[in-house]
Amino acid sequence: MGFTYFKRFRMELDLDRPLFEAPACPPGYQLLPFDESLVRDHAAAKYLSFRSELDVTVFPCLGRRDGCLRLMREIVHRGGFVPASTWLLRYHAADSARPEPIGTVQGIRFDGWGGIQNLGVCQRHRGLGLGTLLLRKAAEGFRDVGLGGMHLEVTTDNTAAVRLYERLGFRRARVVYKAAEVAMA
Ligand SMILES: CC(C)(COP(=O)(O)OP(=O)(O)OC[C@H]1O[C@@H](n2cnc3c(N)ncnc32)[C@H](O)[C@@H]1OP(=O)(O)O)[C@@H](O)C(=O)NCCC(=O)NCCS
Repeated sequence: MGFTYFKRFRMELDLDRPLFEAPACPPGYQLLPFDESLVRDHAAAKYLSFRSELDVTVFPCLGRRDGCLRLMREIVHRGGFVPASTWLLRYHAADSARPEPIGTVQGIRFDGWGGIQNLGVCQRHRGLGLGTLLLRKAAEGFRDVGLGGMHLEVTTDNTAAVRLYERLGFRRARVVYKAAEVAMA
């Protein structure tokens, strides 16, 4: 094993200005505010969204169900956790008895900023505006608790996500490097 450094952008959005538009929640989907009883659903949505993605190399816990549950519990018990910026999406297929968790975003308050943690939408449900909807709800939550800006970190190679954030008005504030252990050839 060896270490490699992943280049990431810190991206920021001013919340004092009008927020980007987001679509309404489409039929069949449920948008749920945070509740302790939903922690397992958030963890499942996180795992299903990230397990095959680039960020698993940077944060290996995202590629494991138990890792996602541990991470989710750790976020919820942090001092700066912002329940108002933490939202879950579920999808209720017509032929299924129960809705399944398919999207999540969590918010943390730190240094006067709202920090987005692990925005994720399962592959099958992407491109419908659900990521935009989750970000909009998180932004409203940060505003409701009096924060003037929100930020997130995204791996620079995650070009589709970077493009989405820029389209919504985020600007690249700086480059940060995250060390990760990787298998060497
Ligand atoms: C980034 C992500 C949350 C976007 O969710 P989404 O529901 O598809 O978002 P929206 O439908 O609101 O926006 C889709 C846009 O995002 C872009 N996008 C980003 N990643 C994408 C992906 N893997 N598949 C499809 N579209 C993606 C598309 O370019 C699209 O732009 P367009 O409308 O110009 O075509 C989702 O792709 C995802 O969970 N990715 C894996 C986890 C991840 O990398 N999260 C970000 C960590 S910073």
